[in-house]
Amino acid sequence: MGLFGRVVVRVLPVMPRFIVGLVAKRYVAGEDLESAVTIMKNLGAKEGCSFTIDVLGEEISNMEEAKHFVNEYDRLIDAIVENDLEANLSVKPTAFGLLIDEQKAYANMEALFAKAAEHDIFVRLDMEDHRVTQATIDIVLRMHGKGITNVGTVLQSRLFRTPDDVRAVCNALGPQADFRLCKGIYLEPEDIAHTKYHPINTAFAESLSLMLDSGAYVGIATHDKPLIHDALEQLRSRGMTPEGPDPREGAGPARPGKGAGYEFQMLLGIRGEIRRKLRKSGHPVRVYIPYGERWYEYSMRRLRENPDVAVHITKAFLMPWTNRR
Ligand code: FDA
Repeated sequence: MGLFGRVVVRVLPVMPRFIVGLVAKRYVAGEDLESAVTIMKNLGAKEGCSFTIDVLGEEISNMEEAKHFVNEYDRLIDAIVENDLEANLSVKPTAFGLLIDEQKAYANMEALFAKAAEHDIFVRLDMEDHRVTQATIDIVLRMHGKGITNVGTVLQSRLFRTPDDVRAVCNALGPQADFRLCKGIYLEPEDIAHTKYHPINTAFAESLSLMLDSGAYVGIATHDKPLIHDALEQLRSRGMTPEGPDPREGAGPARPGKGAGYEFQMLLGIRGEIRRKLRKSGHPVRVYIPYGERWYEYSMRRLRENPDVAVHITKAFLMPWTNRR
């Protein structure tokens, strides 16, 4: 962590809410579902991208709190259907109670996945910190075992275990394996994770290669230019194009609303210019849309976890015209 990052972590507890709000405005769709729908309609019409929607909040402290997420995701599915949005769901298992009551959390999630499946809506399990890596993968495997196949998870290139996880999931699910690959937002201990930029990037490229060679569907989730260039090269060398079909041996069937074996994924408000460029070249791009009342906690947590984001806050504060989605 740089000097600036360390300073930010110190001042975080007294940082005025309105400053955090300035940043949140760019990265969070709004406090309610209606704001998220408006943003998706506009972006979808302008850029032709698709979406994955996250109801803000994670790790609850009692099962009563899980009801908020159960109800909100239920409303969200209805809104996707009513507004004919090209959108899937991003879900954090700890928000459904995974760390409190595993059985109830499973029941909560299974009901959600089943309702989503009725409408051909895919559900992505966001990956949280290393305490729940295996448990999150297990949810996906168990659901597929029950015939609920509209579910996939995220793997984080910073974790040493990720290549083994890619192999294990691909062995278990075959052509149904469907990943999002990202670097990982959680600053994990160095005995289990890469902690520096270059090793994390090298691991990202290697895991992407492994996923593509296994025939899995991959959501390539990064804003990092060298990684995007590498990904484009990896796709090109395998003959994977936006137009499809997916030429890989052992690749899964075409998936509703998805690309031919891959898509790029980006967070709302970050590097819109790259997103638009990828879209112009025809690549499928999915934008991650977080919304909800808990925007303040979300932004503070992101800041605490990755103080480099503070550079963007400072920029947004001093040069608000640069702070666009
Ligand atoms: P890197 O951090 O090197 O950023 C590259 C460039 O992007 C920066 O130089 C900057 O310009 C810009 N940038 C990146 N983050 C920014 C920010 N917050 N504000 C402004 N600019 C920023 N993680 C996780 O642990 N579990 C998960 O489930 C997910 N899910 C997920 C979904 C999607 C769609 C994306 C894009 C990312 C995630 N992540 C995630 C987060 C991911 O692990 C990672 O922390 C961030 O994407 C930043 O890493 P980059 O690959 O973008 O590279």
